[in-house]
Amino acid sequence: MSANLGSMPALELTKGMTVSVKTFYIETFGCQMNVHDSEKVAGVLMARGYRPVDAHEDADIILYNTCSIREKAAQKVFSRLGAFRKNGAGAGKIIGVLGCVAQQEGERFFERAPQVSLVCGSASYARLPELLDQLEAGNRRVKGLALDTEECFETELTRRDNRFRAYLTIIEGCDQRCAFCVVPMTRGPERSRAGGKIVAECRRLVDQGYTEIQLLGQIVNAWRDPGPAGWSFAELLAGVAEIPGLRRVRFTTSHPRYFTPEIVHAIDSHPALCNQVHLPVQAGSSAVLARMRRGYSREEYLEKIYCIRRSSRAISLSTDIIVGFCGEKERDFEETLSLLARVEYDQVFAFKFSPRPHTDAEGFADTIPEEEKSRRLTALLECQRQIQIRRNQALFGQVLEVLVEGYQPRLGQAVGRTATNRVVNFPGKPSDIGGYAKVRVTAVGPNSLVGQRVDEANRASLPAVILSAAKDLGSTLDWARGH
Ligand code: 5AD
Repeated sequence: MSANLGSMPALELTKGMTVSVKTFYIETFGCQMNVHDSEKVAGVLMARGYRPVDAHEDADIILYNTCSIREKAAQKVFSRLGAFRKNGAGAGKIIGVLGCVAQQEGERFFERAPQVSLVCGSASYARLPELLDQLEAGNRRVKGLALDTEECFETELTRRDNRFRAYLTIIEGCDQRCAFCVVPMTRGPERSRAGGKIVAECRRLVDQGYTEIQLLGQIVNAWRDPGPAGWSFAELLAGVAEIPGLRRVRFTTSHPRYFTPEIVHAIDSHPALCNQVHLPVQAGSSAVLARMRRGYSREEYLEKIYCIRRSSRAISLSTDIIVGFCGEKERDFEETLSLLARVEYDQVFAFKFSPRPHTDAEGFADTIPEEEKSRRLTALLECQRQIQIRRNQALFGQVLEVLVEGYQPRLGQAVGRTATNRVVNFPGKPSDIGGYAKVRVTAVGPNSLVGQRVDEANRASLPAVILSAAKDLGSTLDWARGH
């Protein structure tokens, strides 16, 4: 590897004074935690004088922030690296692998992909400045792979990509031992940030103009205040929601085990807490849940749902489901379908089980054939699609508040989200972005709504775009939750 930051092109500022123009490109795979980690990594690099670029061809440093939750996700970084090897595009550049695949593969990356100079798991991001020192000094096998950390990746330098919604990690790592899940092996033990610091950072974000904050954690509701106040998670939610000027607070991902009535009470009594809960169930059969080691039965999960449904606000529900887990019988799968019918989620993220290294389920017998997993996934998605059409139809004619996040010039459509996390498209203009609009629902699909703005007097109304349920605009946008 011949790349050397010291020999990069130099820009002459004033006579005798030069500064290296160092550029970086970062591509992120996976969940919101990864997206936000990349924002922090970018902030650290920019504070050292690196400039972000939009194409890897223009970058001196190329970073991949990887995901290993399923085999398919983990393969993505290898296909990127393989392409470099084939066409030589990586020559002269520094290539780094961050995140969960970095942690999982560790130093093997240096053998498997010799063009890689940096391998760093998320538990070592606090060491990034030191690792960058090593790279800048010419070291080409730099690694941060320790997992036994008690630190969180705290930095003032975050470069946030979204101007309206700020992500904020409040707890890192995971202490659960779900049989299918690789996260405890790739993100290390749970560590919570102090409540006082979190609220102070939220205040700063509001001062900077953010009106929506999303609190993040692999298991966000396992958060416990390590600080002197000793807040519960529900108390933290209330504390954040009471910050003047903050209009929307979301949190993800919650584990059913730690989902308490106090959280529902906090949502009930704080309008700024979005009436939306993502509560992964994974399976509808207690036998499968026990083999997954989820720590709750179907009935216990449903108790949490009833508690949420008793709220004075209409709380929107979403979930994650794994189909085809080892030993999942047809009747187990039917229990998952009946759970969907019972709960009536507004959104479901469903995945075929994918065995992961060093997890308990890696060694489980009774694997389900791939075709059968696919059949179950298709059946489940179809069942859920009907539920979503029904639920969205109930919104027809209602006026919803939308935070506008984008504009599609070709269609003259603004697009945003409701507090319940539904995507809404409506005739708008570029300057709507960043503001809140009141929109009456005029058409619905399974994944998004279409409407007309009702809170602007004498608006020149663009022709309404009526979308069929099958052709869903929302799906053309990049709204992926990322996993
Ligand atoms: N196979 C398939 N899906 C998985 N998930 C986690 N691990 C696996 C796996 N081994 C899913 C779960 C989790 C979501 C983030 O990814 O549904 O909630």
